[in-house]
Amino acid sequence: MLSSVVASQESIHAKYGGVVPELASRRHIEAIVPVVEEALAKAGKTLGDIGGISVTQGPGLVGSLLIGLSFAKSLSLARGLPLTGVNHIEAHAHAAFLTEREGEGGGPGFPFVALIVSGGHTTLLLFEDATTYRVLGQTLDDSAGEAFDKVAKLLGLGYPGGAAIDRLAREGDRRAIDFPRPLMARGSLDFSFSGLKTSMLTHVRKLDGPPTEAHLKDLSASFQEAVVDALVTKALWALRATGAKDLVAAGGVASNSRFRARLAEMAEEEGIELFIPPPRYCTDNAAMVASLGFHQLRKGMLAGLDMNAKPTWEGF
Ligand code: KG4
Ligand code: ZN
Repeated sequence: MLSSVVASQESIHAKYGGVVPELASRRHIEAIVPVVEEALAKAGKTLGDIGGISVTQGPGLVGSLLIGLSFAKSLSLARGLPLTGVNHIEAHAHAAFLTEREGEGGGPGFPFVALIVSGGHTTLLLFEDATTYRVLGQTLDDSAGEAFDKVAKLLGLGYPGGAAIDRLAREGDRRAIDFPRPLMARGSLDFSFSGLKTSMLTHVRKLDGPPTEAHLKDLSASFQEAVVDALVTKALWALRATGAKDLVAAGGVASNSRFRARLAEMAEEEGIELFIPPPRYCTDNAAMVASLGFHQLRKGMLAGLDMNAKPTWEGF
């Protein structure tokens, strides 16, 4: 990888407690040209050196997707460059192939299981090759990231709150509260996290007054353990069901320290090779979109100027 530039919008949306679609679109319009220019400058390249363009087609907010697509199509038309549209969730798994130093890497071998845990998705995928995957399971309600964010909001920890819970949980008792672990008995590869939020609300209401620092630590640790239990257990079930020996975990929640530690333990016990990209490639970035797009372009999976955004993507 020659360069990776991210324009974060976190500070714009933080005061609203969640992403405001219209503000996101506007910020994308402002950011897209400077980001592309900076990425080229940092790589020491010009547009003339580019061989193809990869762009996120979905799933996601339609306004933001349309800005990326319009820009990519314009560039493709103006420069006569081949264009390919990628699935954002599939691209998260491709972060496992990103390396910054020449001769480094290798990445997971096929077939591998990928557990994508982002703000919007909790999805288990099986990759048969770089561009062929099957959805093994996903959340039936909230994503793991949403659960972290909603619970953090409820505890007064701000938005997005996953990292704050992670920090507090380090000093809390993971067994203080036995939060529900749904869909664990039936061998299902699907997830459900919305009950956790309700359960947290019940616990907070039972306290006399606002939670103390000690309460916050125990509530965070116990909640986080319930989420991590579900994620690690289902990843293991997916590996056993498919016979895959390599596991990729990516998406914003994959920067959670307890999740990383529990995955590492499980991989060690089960003889699984584990790939968790560094946090900067776990959260949203364009390098992962290029990583997948590279394979699609090589296979001739080209898109025309009629390519449309897929805010919802069949199967996701
Ligand atoms: O993949 P991502 O950066 O953006 C999306 O595509 O959605 O994921 C963002 C999510 C947020 O819900 C955030 O709270 C969560 O990742 N997150 C964490 C941690 N760091 C970020 N969740 C738990 N522990 C963390 N350390
Ligand atoms: Zn994402």
